[in-house]
Amino acid sequence: MIPSPNIWHWPDVYEVENRAQDVDGAIFRYLRATFDWTGNTVVDVGCGSGFHLPVFAESAQTVIGVEPHTPLLNLARQRVADMRNVRVMDASAERIPLGDASVDLVHARTAYFFGPGCGPGIAEALRVLRPGGALVVVDLDATAHPYGTWMCSDLPQYRSGPVETFFAAQGFDLVRVETRWAFSDRESLRGVLNIEFTKRTAARAFARTPGLSLDVRYRIHARRKPAVLETL
Ligand SMILES: C[S@@+](CC[C@H](N)C(=O)[O-])C[C@H]1O[C@@H](n2cnc3c(N)ncnc32)[C@H](O)[C@@H]1O
Repeated sequence: MIPSPNIWHWPDVYEVENRAQDVDGAIFRYLRATFDWTGNTVVDVGCGSGFHLPVFAESAQTVIGVEPHTPLLNLARQRVADMRNVRVMDASAERIPLGDASVDLVHARTAYFFGPGCGPGIAEALRVLRPGGALVVVDLDATAHPYGTWMCSDLPQYRSGPVETFFAAQGFDLVRVETRWAFSDRESLRGVLNIEFTKRTAARAFARTPGLSLDVRYRIHARRKPAVLETL
């Protein structure tokens, strides 16, 4: 399990962040158009408190959240308690307790555990996927200003290039999606910046964000499991 201090320590503020993220729905618009899951089985790996599960559940036949951190697992279970086509499993990306070829889409959002070295997680996703199914990793794009600039100033060792090269070498396509985060008030914006950045960077980011919204770009890495076995 990779620590996620933001959502582990401040799940309430992370809920505000999730509500503020991509308010125009650009990511889900792209995902739906490319990997339509209507009537299908979707797994959300590292689902946290389950924020995205109801969105998948609107049209999927079955949605399965996978989360190893117990307090978040419980929050996710509470969130979907009334949804008959959703369940949440105490498991991790590297060991998903589902059968081979039983899932159409594996989704992982802001999933730090999907980066260089995550071979076991990719192999496990490909095991549970049906032929033709897709693994989709949605993450923040550190190459885009301003949000990426703030990320990099807190993580001077971080390099986007090797991360993107890793996914490309594993056969993933890359699409970048521009989004807008919007907050109801400046205190919510300040609170979210405070859980994402060091004090100094958060103060700078707050001062440089004059209104209630900011532009944040995401990278979406996707790989399909081959639909047919290649034969000679
Ligand atoms: C930043 S949070 C994102 C949560 C959720 N995807 C969202 O967008 O609201 C990352 C999540 O990944 C979980 N996580 C960490 N290591 C994991 C692993 N090896 N397998 C699955 N989930 C993991 C954390 O517990 C945390 O809930």
